Parts: sequence; C-alpha cells; structure tokens
Amino acid sequence: MSAKQEWINTAIEAMEKAYVPYSKFPVGAALITESGEVFQGCNIENASFGLTNCAERTAFFKAVSEGNMSFSHLVVAGETEDPISPCGACRQVMVEFCSPDMPVSLVNTKGDIKETTVSELLPYSFESDQMG
Ligand code: THU
Repeated sequence: MSAKQEWINTAIEAMEKAYVPYSKFPVGAALITESGEVFQGCNIENASFGLTNCAERTAFFKAVSEGNMSFSHLVVAGETEDPISPCGACRQVMVEFCSPDMPVSLVNTKGDIKETTVSELLPYSFESDQMG
C-alpha cells in the first residue's frame, strides 16, 4: 500500500473519533510532518455550537502543541458526495503553518480523491508579512 493510501486510511479512521452529536457529520484528518509523523484530527462539537473545532484544526493544534511546525501533506476525509471541501477557517490555519505548494488530498468514504494545494485552497491569503 502506498504511503498516501495509508494516510487516507488514517484520516478515515480518525472520523470514528469525531464528537458530532449535533451535526452527525464526522470529519477526519491526517497531518503528516516533514519527519513522517502522522497526527490524526477529528471534529469536536459543543452544545454552544460556535465552539466547534474542525478536524483539520484539531490535527494542526495537536501537532503544533507537540512541537511540530514543518508539514508535508494533509488529508481530509468526510462522508460527502464529492471529496470534502475544508472550511475557510481551516484554510487560513493551513496557510499559517504550510508552504503554499504543500499537497492536500480531499477524500470521501466512497474513494473519490481531489488533489489540491494550500494556495489553491486559499489564494490571495492574509499572512503575517502584510502586517509589516
Ligand atoms: N467540519 C470539519 O470538521 N471540517 C471541515 O472542513 C468542514 C466542517 C465539521 C464542523 C462541524 O462539526 C461539522 O463538520 C458540520 O459543519
């Protein structure tokens, strides 16, 4: 099995840990570091809906809080008709920690895959250098 297929399986497996009593819409992520470590993320909801954390941001915050700042690949998985499309907040977090050309694989549980990159997902993004 290719490394990418293993990462896709890891992202789909992460969906099982999603805490989604409100939306019933599990999302999983697998974030791969430059050194090959894989961080899983799932969405975590709250009765106060706005406090929900998406799967992608869970994976980033887990990795960064463990001292990882260099990433090589992100996989996002959902039970969507087409490959899942990350929300705007998560795209902004990707921009913060990833190079513009870092590959992102968007998948669904039927096996559809859309290959894209961080800059394709969020063109003309706001970044720290704009603050002078
Ligand atoms: N969600 C994610 O975890 N990632 C996305 O890219 C899209 C949305 C979650 C948030 C919420 O728990 C549920 O999906 C429905 O919006």
